[in-house]
Amino acid sequence: MTMNRFWALAEGPLPAWPQEDTFVLKEGEIPTPGPGQAMTRTIYVSLDPYQWYYKQQRIEPVDAPCHARTVSQVVRSRMDGFAPGDFVFNTNGWAEYGLMGKDVWRPNYMVPRKLDESSRISHAVGVLGMLGLTAYAGMDLLASPKAGDTVVVSAASGGVGQIAGQLAKQRGARVVGIAGRDTKCRFVTDELGFDACVSHLSPTLPADLAAACPAGIDVYFENVGGKIFEAVLPLFNAAARMTICGLIAHYGEEAGRDSRAMLMKLGEPVFSSRGVRVKNLSVGDFAASHHEEMLAYVGPLVAAGKIKYREDIRQGLEVIPAAFAQMLRGDNFGKMLVQLSLDPTLGQV
Ligand SMILES: NC(=O)c1ccc[n+]([C@@H]2O[C@H](COP(=O)([O-])OP(=O)(O)OC[C@H]3O[C@@H](n4cnc5c(N)ncnc54)[C@H](OP(=O)(O)O)[C@@H]3O)[C@@H](O)[C@H]2O)c1
Repeated sequence: MTMNRFWALAEGPLPAWPQEDTFVLKEGEIPTPGPGQAMTRTIYVSLDPYQWYYKQQRIEPVDAPCHARTVSQVVRSRMDGFAPGDFVFNTNGWAEYGLMGKDVWRPNYMVPRKLDESSRISHAVGVLGMLGLTAYAGMDLLASPKAGDTVVVSAASGGVGQIAGQLAKQRGARVVGIAGRDTKCRFVTDELGFDACVSHLSPTLPADLAAACPAGIDVYFENVGGKIFEAVLPLFNAAARMTICGLIAHYGEEAGRDSRAMLMKLGEPVFSSRGVRVKNLSVGDFAASHHEEMLAYVGPLVAAGKIKYREDIRQGLEVIPAAFAQMLRGDNFGKMLVQLSLDPTLGQV
């Protein structure tokens, strides 16, 4: 065990959406931790839409493994507070092994932390991590749903959407999801307990959504944009609230990074005439201030089964690029993860 395999971005211009040859599998030495660092083995790699934005914007270091949030186990440590065997949240990326700690590049709010085993460790990159915080901040803190409100959530069966909708249910709202395939829509109503779900694949989406929201829309949690936003727009009630969490339908476009501005321009006549309050969400703004608060609220709901959380866990380093492309086009069913090594907390040895 001396070699570390990882995926890096291939040279050359990026396509609009990832293709088979967008990434190359590389091999290097397993890194040795310096002072203030620990070396960890990756157990779960989180695949998230923002990673494509990072690549388009060349945010991550060149020649390094593609960035991703990970759940890992410490192998060697020269880092205070972390010992071999500890399970951690960190950012090994699309790699079997990685360093964390002093001088290791990471997005500034993705601070490594030790995990306890009272909940599934994979949840640290999901419902009890950044995705739970995204849903909590975007729904409870920014949109404040109340009993009787009609709340609409797009990408409703996905990592963020499933949590956001269930949080609105906890506040007594009537919740309508928007998802792709029928199986996802059935999951959203039958398993997650949303009141209704419409498919954006239907040619009659605007009429379907209007029928599912007879009292109009008070809160919209936006994950997608495009034709879904256009179907939502006419249904906003006076003083409605909208959180722009993500605009995944636009991430392959040249102007993808300006998509929030484009959406604001398109919606402006309705926003002004009906007094719709629109908030942009960036989860990093809430990481330091609200992570513990989110855990204290969402953790017990998950433990009690009042918030359900579906994961789509694929196996093996080799499948990462394909799984990533599938997630971006909706071929995931739940929060997309890839498992690279055994999870001892599940008895896998
Ligand atoms: N603001 C923040 O700080 C922040 C943080 C985390 C995530 N986000 C955003 O939250 C959103 C959801 O992220 P996630 O990690 O939970 O991903 P996800 O929802 O688990 O996966 C993406 C889903 O988007 C849907 N989708 C993809 N392309 C679509 C299209 N063209 N039209 C309609 N639906 C499409 C697909 O579901 P269907 O099959 O149901 O269509 C797909 O399963 C993304 O926009 C992401 O960028 C934002």
